[in-house]
Amino acid sequence: MTPLPSNIQVPQLSPREIVKELDNYIIGQDAAKKAVAIALRNRWRRQQVTGEIRDEIYPNNIILIGPTGVGKTELARRLAMLAGAPFIKVEASKYTEVGYVGRDVDSMVRDLTDLAVAKVRSEHMDIAHDKLDLLIEDKLLDLLQEPLAADEEELAALSADEKQAKQEAWQRRRSELREELRGGKLDDDIVEIEITESSMPLMQIFSAQGIEEMGFNMPEAMGEGATRRKLVEMPLIEARERLFEEEFDRDIDMDRVIREAVRRTEQLGIVFFDEIDKIVSSSDGEGVGPDVSRSGVQRDILPVVEGTTVVTKYGPVKTDHVLFIAAGAFSNVKPSDLIPELQGRFPIRVEMDRLGEEEFLRILTEPRNALIKQYQALLATESVNLEFTRDALRELARTAKDVNERTEDIGARRLHTILTTLLEDILFEAAELTKKDVKITKTFVQGRLKDIVEDEDLSRFIL
Ligand SMILES: Nc1ncnc2c1ncn2[C@@H]1O[C@H](COP(=O)(O)OP(=O)(O)O)[C@@H](O)[C@H]1O
Ligand SMILES: [Mg+2]
Repeated sequence: MTPLPSNIQVPQLSPREIVKELDNYIIGQDAAKKAVAIALRNRWRRQQVTGEIRDEIYPNNIILIGPTGVGKTELARRLAMLAGAPFIKVEASKYTEVGYVGRDVDSMVRDLTDLAVAKVRSEHMDIAHDKLDLLIEDKLLDLLQEPLAADEEELAALSADEKQAKQEAWQRRRSELREELRGGKLDDDIVEIEITESSMPLMQIFSAQGIEEMGFNMPEAMGEGATRRKLVEMPLIEARERLFEEEFDRDIDMDRVIREAVRRTEQLGIVFFDEIDKIVSSSDGEGVGPDVSRSGVQRDILPVVEGTTVVTKYGPVKTDHVLFIAAGAFSNVKPSDLIPELQGRFPIRVEMDRLGEEEFLRILTEPRNALIKQYQALLATESVNLEFTRDALRELARTAKDVNERTEDIGARRLHTILTTLLEDILFEAAELTKKDVKITKTFVQGRLKDIVEDEDLSRFIL
């Protein structure tokens, strides 16, 4: 068993530190950053509380209220990343009341657990590579090279000198092959390896029917008969992967992985519940669609949010400490239209600001993953050096604001469409450009975008 990378003690950041981290990715939205930082810290505080009072402390779930494209999802996702937390984003409108067509609310906890298991497993995999790669290299070399001798007798028949010479030659060849292997020169060579063939198709049929979701362990139920060994030819590069996986599966203690994953889900998990306003009907009866089923969904969600135990294929998972961050535009309904019990479980509400020219300008350039940086990195792979003048950036920000005002306000998402349109030709031609320094000026931006921006129909389609 490889040493555990897990039981990672996520460093407990103070709310101030959390906000600072979030600032690296999200521009503005200070109130929301503060609220999520407090919620994260409060969960940890609640976990430290002992005795009866602990159960009395409500989780600090949050509703982020704001139009599309202002950073709601991004904020939740970044928060999860810096907390090292399993994170899942779900659409409220996908859920239906138990017994109706659609997803039942428990499935979000099962999905969250699945993600955690996959994550912990892949952490183990990274570590296993250090340990297993040499072993597998030798296995591959064995496949590539004739053995030193057919059998003991052949070796025994040789004189001591002959034997030594033979061994040395064999070692030399092995070293050469090792070099070639490491240099990737043998990747396409065909080798034959023995692999375990599992009855995957059968398992997929079963799980499509949901048996797996109910906690049924398929391979165990089907016994050893479900797998069988067989010889297969494949390119070396694939064989390396397969051999690694086989060794890894033999080596890994899945029980331990699952325990750690369940722990993380329960203690750190974050569910981002998007479009919560879609399951709310307005108090004055204005909501569209069947109101009964909407409050039905809210009622079904309630226990998961309050804290319940969901049966997953990895065993029971308690949701008491899972953090729920809901989001919605709430243009026609209000958070107070939620059923009272649910309102009580989402005590924190934060409005997120609409974004304007100044924010767009910053979003283009400042975040660690800023769009401009992304395009620069993409083009740098073809030795193209992409630069923007300050004026050009401002022109882009202004254009985004204008188009949002004149067509539909999709927030910072507008920057994506504008930039792809702006850079289309450069992205198309990058490989053939003779002049590798590309400077985007205000004039270039206007020249490329003006006609589209001025034609409202065109901008609806393109931008
Ligand atoms: N305040 C912001 N700071 C930085 N990037 C932002 C901000 N708001 C939105 N974005 C960017 O815009 C895109 C859409 O944001 P997202 O969070 O998905 O919006 P929504 O509020 O609809 O969930 C993402 O690429 C995100 O990085
Ligand atoms: Mg979103």
